Amino acid sequence: MKPTKSLALTKPDDWHVHLRSGEMLPKVLSDTATSFNRAIVMPNLSPPIRTTSDAVLYRREIEAALEKNSDFTPLMTCYLTDETDPDDLISGFTADVFSAAKLYPAGATTNSDSGVTNVLLLDSVFSAMSDAGMPLLIHGEVVDHKIDIFDREHKFIELILEPLRSRHPNLKIVFEHITTKNAVDYVRSGQPDKLAATITPHHLSVNRSDLFAGGIRPHLYCLPIPKREQHRIALVEAACSGNKRFFLGTDSAPHLIEEKESSCGCAGVYNSPNALQTYIAIFEKNDALDELNSFASLNGPEFYNLKPNTEEIEFVKRSSPVSIDDLVVGSSRVKTFEPPFPLFWTAK
Ligand code: NCD
Ligand code: ZN
Repeated sequence: MKPTKSLALTKPDDWHVHLRSGEMLPKVLSDTATSFNRAIVMPNLSPPIRTTSDAVLYRREIEAALEKNSDFTPLMTCYLTDETDPDDLISGFTADVFSAAKLYPAGATTNSDSGVTNVLLLDSVFSAMSDAGMPLLIHGEVVDHKIDIFDREHKFIELILEPLRSRHPNLKIVFEHITTKNAVDYVRSGQPDKLAATITPHHLSVNRSDLFAGGIRPHLYCLPIPKREQHRIALVEAACSGNKRFFLGTDSAPHLIEEKESSCGCAGVYNSPNALQTYIAIFEKNDALDELNSFASLNGPEFYNLKPNTEEIEFVKRSSPVSIDDLVVGSSRVKTFEPPFPLFWTAK
């Protein structure tokens, strides 16, 4: 098969990923470490990573699971709870154990039961983070079940995020895996070193109708849930704009096939093996390949006050679609994200 085009990128980082632990970890880690140099590792294990010592142990588990010669660096996060101790959090940040802290509103998503019940309880934690320059990463959905699931992100902006930012104007915030035009517009209105957002490959590729195309598609179910097409288009425009407030975060969140294909299937899309290929396809369709390096490799490090990677990664465009393989884990499998269009790009 002859390549038709090629593309060079600064080696990207993944600013939002779920690596899990135990048997799943080495498998999914290998897919992440192949494509990315660093990754912000989500702390929603069961039990969650709540303290500096939890993170030291988890980082050790990740490092031990890496293939020999890998220079992948996991960047650890703290799972905030109503009881988070600001002193432990900030000392973990200054000691380079934590890169950020993650706010899960209690009950918002997978393994968020010990999350924060009321953000007002954390004002002293947010003040300490703000003083230290420690980023706060937010799962931005309200948890009130009276609020329609498709409205939970934009209600979060009005009810939680805007008041929180008025109380802590210097806090660095990443609005994670945004899914609405409301979130895009809101992030655009902030100071770029204080407010940014990650955008996933699946939210750039599917809208809410795709979740039900020909039948229910459990492997596309994730939180926040994909929204209407107009929102997907706003996300694509934001990612492809080169605006430094928007950067790559896959939210790759593996679950075994039997947990997804169930009468109560859980939320999460596993996309690490083809996340970059999907982003490339989206940028190419929008004639924006020139902006991909900023989105994938420059904007994230700038927000986190890190240097971009120096290594390059090269992609080639094949003349026929590449196959998408599932991940084998023990006697089960994790289904890899299949975008509703073929993928032609592969790493050289
Ligand atoms: C994530 C998971 O499975 O850990 N699921 C998801 O749908 N995105 C949790 C999260 O990031 O919300
Ligand atoms: Zn996530």
